[in-house]
Formats: sequence, structure tokens, C-alpha cells
Amino acid sequence: MHVNGKAYLALWVDENNNSVKIINQLKIPFEFDICEITSCLELVNAIKDMRLRGAPLIGAAGAYAIWLACIEANKNLNPAEFLVNAYNIIVSARPTAVNLKYATTIIYNKVIAESDSSKWQQIALKESNIFYGNEIENFKKIGAYGLEIIEKISLQKKGEAVNILTHCNAGWLACGDYGTATAPIYFAHEKGIKIHVWVDETRPRFQGAKLTAWEMHNENIPFTVIADNTGGYLMQENMVDMVIVGADRVAANGDVANKVGTYLKALAARDNNVPFYVALPSSTIDFELKQGVHNISIEKRNEDEIVKVDGLTNNMNVEIVDIMPSNYSSANYAFDITPARLVTGIITEKGIVEADTEKILKLFSEK
Ligand code: MRU
Repeated sequence: MHVNGKAYLALWVDENNNSVKIINQLKIPFEFDICEITSCLELVNAIKDMRLRGAPLIGAAGAYAIWLACIEANKNLNPAEFLVNAYNIIVSARPTAVNLKYATTIIYNKVIAESDSSKWQQIALKESNIFYGNEIENFKKIGAYGLEIIEKISLQKKGEAVNILTHCNAGWLACGDYGTATAPIYFAHEKGIKIHVWVDETRPRFQGAKLTAWEMHNENIPFTVIADNTGGYLMQENMVDMVIVGADRVAANGDVANKVGTYLKALAARDNNVPFYVALPSSTIDFELKQGVHNISIEKRNEDEIVKVDGLTNNMNVEIVDIMPSNYSSANYAFDITPARLVTGIITEKGIVEADTEKILKLFSEK
């Protein structure tokens, strides 16, 4: 998608094929900074400190981290041991998004199937490019399926703007391109359908206010940032036609782990008969997990994210301030789980499916 009219991916391989470049998401919206990453550990650190984030992008980063590890492995006495250590470090960088383990494992298995370690680097790069390219194609398919829903609502509203509420950032920054929750929004906008997006600010890290809003602004899509607790009121007042969110992990029964606060939006949506959709590629589905509630590991992050915020001062400097005394007790649960019963439909690259074990397994029978 675009930044000041120029097309970018959120992550790409440098033209000389020797590094990974990422848009530094910690700096947006006040600065546009690109980081160049040349080692597996550096890329793992970028995942941990959230210079890059979002479940599908973390997955792609895991794949390329294996590639960088393959380059380093051949400088080691025991390349296989080096690589398995790198694999374990990569997959434990963040616990909730299943895409990380999924993508990293695919590339790792392709690589170790080759006994000649001098070929690993080439295999890992080729396979990572294929994986990332396929994921981007999947986001487009999600966009096309989601568009059908928006089109129907637009017809019912006789062309009046369709109000879509989204939480966190499941946009192109979180995915590489198009996004999951946002792909249908971009497609609808491109088709000339009138839309307006309610962007939850998404405490504590403000992925909505800082990232989703920036993406919408760059694509000229009408949006309004709201405090996280506003959605329920807007739904009661018929100011939301549908909710679309992304996901970090979906269990086989359709329970959805997503950014903390998603569950409360789903409850409000159900109470007000607002359709609640979750958009995701199948790399986000954990087919081994029968049920999500109580079973998905929820990342608990540093309390500083609750206590401190960063923002632009009057002197145009980005500074961090405390919003409460730093010795107050606080807790930072990064995700929550929305039970399948509250989900109207799951928008995937293979179509829209009910959040139900049988239907999900039927749609993805090859898995
Ligand atoms: O902690 P983050 O920012 O990596 O959280 C992940 C997310 O961006 C969301 O939960 C998102 O809605 C799903 S990722 C497309």
C-alpha cells in the first residue's frame, strides 16, 4: 500500500539479497524510518520490541529469520546445531500469534531436508519469498470476499456510507500488504463504495490510533479514531454497520485470539445485532487446538506499556511520559479470546466460513 503516494511493503528483502528491510512501526505516525536487518537475532529483536508486529508479518519475519540464520550457519562449525538453536529462538519471540511458528517451521523443514548446508541459504530465501508472496495473494482474496459483505450492506443503506469498526491494526503494516481486516475496506474504497472507518485507538500501544489511522490517511479513506470504550455506544446508536477485526490465533472451533479489547467489542456487537467478522489467512488457524478459550497462551507484556505513553510535544519532539506514578500496580495482557459463538463469520482466503469446527475443517480439509 502507499506512503505519501509511494507503494511499500511492510517488510522486504534488500535488492542485493543480503538483508531484510522493515518499516519501523515504533516510529509511525510521526516518523518514517526503515530498518535494515542483517542477522537472525536482530530480526528476532525487532519482533520482540515490536518494530515489526502483527501476526502475519511476524510469520513472514520468522521465515526470513531462518534465511538469515542459514547465512550465519555456514560460518559455524556445526551448521545444523546453529540452525536448530536459531529456530527455537525465533519461534519463542512472541507466544500468541501462531503464524510465527507456522511460517518458521515450514521454511526450517524445507531447509533441513537438504543435507548440503551450503545450499540452505538459497533454499530458505526462495521458500520465504514464495511463502510471503502467497500470503499477500491470500490477503487480496480476503479483500474480495469481505468486499461482498460490504457491498450488500451498502445496497441496504442505498449507498449511504457503510460504517465499519475495527480494533488494533490488522492492516498492511501487520501483514506486509493489504492487511486482513483492512483488505475489504481498501477494495470497497477502490470500487467507489462509500465507507467510513471507526478506528479503536487500542490501548495500551495505540496500534489503532498510530498505525491503522495512518494507513487510512495514506489511502484517503474516511476514518475517525475513537477511545477504546466508545464502540458500545456507537453500536447502540446504529452508528456501526459491521465490525471487522484481524486475529493472532484462531482455534479449530473458531474461538479467536486477538488484541485485548476485541472480546468486549464482540459482546457489544452481539447485544446490538451488529455483524462481527474476523478476517485472517489460514496461517492464523491453529488446527491442532480444538478450543481457544482458556487454551491460547496470552502474552503478558511489560507494565511500562500501561504506565507510559509516547507522543509529539509542542516542540515537535517525540517524548515518553508517565501517565500515572510508575510505582502503581498495573497488568498488561496483550490479547483476549472471543468465543466462536460471538463471531458472525470468518473471512479467509478460501471464503467466508461460520466459526464452527466442522465448517472450518471442511473448508480447509487439506490441513
Ligand atoms: O501485539 P500486536 O500489535 O502484534 O498484535 C497483533 C495485532 O496486530 C492484532 O491483534 C491484529 O488485530 C491481528 S494481526 C493481523
